[in-house]
Amino acid sequence: MLVTSKEMVYHARAGKYAIGCFNTSDLEITKAIIAAAEAQKAPVIISTSPKAIEYAGHEVLAGIIKEEATKSKVPVALHLDHGLTLALVEDCLKLGYTSIMFDGSGSDLEHNEILTRQAVEMAHAKKVPCEGELGFLGKAGQNPSKLTNPDDVIGFVQKTGVDFLAVSIGSEHGHGENEALDIKLLKKINSQTGIPLVLHGASGVPDKDIKEAIKLGIAKVNIDTDIRHTFVRGLRDFLDKNPKEKDPREILTKVMNEIQKYVEGRIKLFGSNNRV
Ligand code: 13P
Repeated sequence: MLVTSKEMVYHARAGKYAIGCFNTSDLEITKAIIAAAEAQKAPVIISTSPKAIEYAGHEVLAGIIKEEATKSKVPVALHLDHGLTLALVEDCLKLGYTSIMFDGSGSDLEHNEILTRQAVEMAHAKKVPCEGELGFLGKAGQNPSKLTNPDDVIGFVQKTGVDFLAVSIGSEHGHGENEALDIKLLKKINSQTGIPLVLHGASGVPDKDIKEAIKLGIAKVNIDTDIRHTFVRGLRDFLDKNPKEKDPREILTKVMNEIQKYVEGRIKLFGSNNRV
């Protein structure tokens, strides 16, 4: 069923496990994520970045996810990942998104707070939860992350009214050279607020750090790069072994199986299996 992300993430925060937030840009990845969540009896968040929205078309992508979510046996939330403008937040709410992230982390703190507050008000008017980002999550090899300043946490949470807080504690989007998490920093952040914290850039972060972070308030873990890599690796392997296969449905079914296996493994690591 299609639900908002609020209850599942707050439940995870209280139970010291995390909900997997997996990025999709097409039918195949969406089906594989939901199949994995059903196999593991896990609530799940399906996330669409601005790039995925541009690739697939917003109505098409949202339509696929809403349809698959509605049919699903497990709770599924449809999430906007790194919404950079209020106009995009508005579009998503009109299309029936059940979870929003507004990312004002490219602005200074004051502007981040003002814009995030507006996004929160828009989302809450539709009873949809909203995540904000404090600090900056960079992209491996392109722009470095800027760690979250724990002294900014209380003010940001109070002024914006965010439901979940994305923190920058050592990870990057993509595969960085060293994505060990700053657990001491996370402890400080977690001592400032009781709201669920979000780990972005989880591809490339050591499993033991992810587990440690989940004990310290991380209740939503975002994965994108490793899903896309699993897709491409699965496609290459299958075509190398079966060069005569001509039916895309046969090929993509094998790729979906690989993605499903990967997502099931992450769900078990996050401890969100057997929660439905
Ligand atoms: P990765 O691409 O490193 O998995 O990060 C995904 C993410 O944080 C999406 O918001």
